[in-house]
Amino acid sequence: MTVTRYKQLAQTLRRQIEAQVWLPTEKLPSLRESSRQSGLSLMTVLQAYQLLESQGVIVSRPQSGYYVAACETPREIPQLLHAAEKIDVNDAIFDILKAGQDPDIVPFGSAFPDPTLFPQPGLARALASAVRRMSPHSAIANLPPGNEELRRNIAQRYAQQGIDVTPDEIVITSGAMESLGLSLQVVTQPGDWVAIESPAFYGVLQAIERRKLKAVAIPMDTQHGIDLQALKQAIATYPIKACWLMSNFQNPLGSTLAEEKKQQLVEILQENEVALIEDDVYAELYFNGERPVPLKMSSYRQQILHCSSFSKCLAPGFRVGWVAAGAYASRIQRLQLMSTLSASVPIQLALADFLHQGGYDAHLKRLRRQLELRQTAMRNMIIKSFPVGTTVSQPKGGYFLWVNLGENIDATKIYQLALGQGISVAPGTMFAVDDRYRHCLRLNTSFEWNTRAEKALLTLASLVHSEKSRKKQSSTL
Ligand SMILES: Cc1ncc(COP(=O)(O)O)c(C=O)c1O
Repeated sequence: MTVTRYKQLAQTLRRQIEAQVWLPTEKLPSLRESSRQSGLSLMTVLQAYQLLESQGVIVSRPQSGYYVAACETPREIPQLLHAAEKIDVNDAIFDILKAGQDPDIVPFGSAFPDPTLFPQPGLARALASAVRRMSPHSAIANLPPGNEELRRNIAQRYAQQGIDVTPDEIVITSGAMESLGLSLQVVTQPGDWVAIESPAFYGVLQAIERRKLKAVAIPMDTQHGIDLQALKQAIATYPIKACWLMSNFQNPLGSTLAEEKKQQLVEILQENEVALIEDDVYAELYFNGERPVPLKMSSYRQQILHCSSFSKCLAPGFRVGWVAAGAYASRIQRLQLMSTLSASVPIQLALADFLHQGGYDAHLKRLRRQLELRQTAMRNMIIKSFPVGTTVSQPKGGYFLWVNLGENIDATKIYQLALGQGISVAPGTMFAVDDRYRHCLRLNTSFEWNTRAEKALLTLASLVHSEKSRKKQSSTL
């Protein structure tokens, strides 16, 4: 889908004004001149000028023409990412992830759920049986879009929620990471603009860097999620091709959008013809009895690429995900054929078999209960042991807590000190290209709450206390 022509022209002019091609109070080309240069009709140019006028970027003077407003303030846009800045973020992320791989380290910084929470024996049986039953032709039969039974199973789960997704629009991938990457590739060209969340899952920043895209980061509220006014402003200012976000249990904040906000968000995207990549990998991990609905459940669903996987809720190591790609399904399949070819066949068969046997919902029920108990235990201890002024999120699902240590505490320093004591944490700098979350930490709550975990959390708390006292002392000197 393309942005309407007059909006494209308005965005081009706005960018030129920001870049000072046209200075405040300077006269813009006349409608006729602009129409000749752009090849657009006079009416389209007039609409573009009127749009900029309504945004206060330019003013019209009767009998004279259009002028740049005296004081244009386009720099209200929250945050821009530039390719050079992103490279640093990726380096840091790589080091932090590597540190978290050591089994002797307490994995509060990990993105993976506790592997002991999953039905390993049942999955092993399903896998052994899948390998035995595999026909010589199954590699061909399960090429993109992927195993039919598995796709039907996934479609049935959408249907149970009242979401109209057919098996034909589902493409099975190697985890959500592949489905998100393919989705980004299908809706953008290098150099395009994408709207993302701030803070965002670091996989978003990496994928954007790989695809050589530009991004506008939209501020998030820990409780209420994305700032819709900022999103509107970003869309009015930049030629945004796609938006990549999480409406349920956002990583790292844990926020879930209210139903009404979900609707408003879809309306904004629909009105501006912006495609949506919806990352919904934590949606099955809800605590309050009802699966939160995705944005995919809307009249805009053909333009929504709904990405998820079994990595967080059933089989972390299997690397099976999918995208319900709407209008983009066949293009996603082609891209997959050109890159990874397909997800592993025996693993797809095993998951299809496991889901068919039943028992998935009973497992999910147990998993949600465990995750909720563990989150409560860790959260209570943070409240008791961290310095006054610390705030901690309270997500109603997933397995992350977002801890704000207070503006003057450097969480990257805490991360380094903690690592020295055998504890990993995910510092806020992993979730943005600049250091605006320098004072925040993301903690993984999925692991067993035992003496080792308690001790590690108390150590972390004492590191923060010491850092706070040190800061206090140095500010009074
Ligand atoms: C928000 C988010 N999206 C996507 C992924 C990747 O999922 P998968 O492991 O299925 O590739 C992760 C994994 O940490 C994640 O946190």
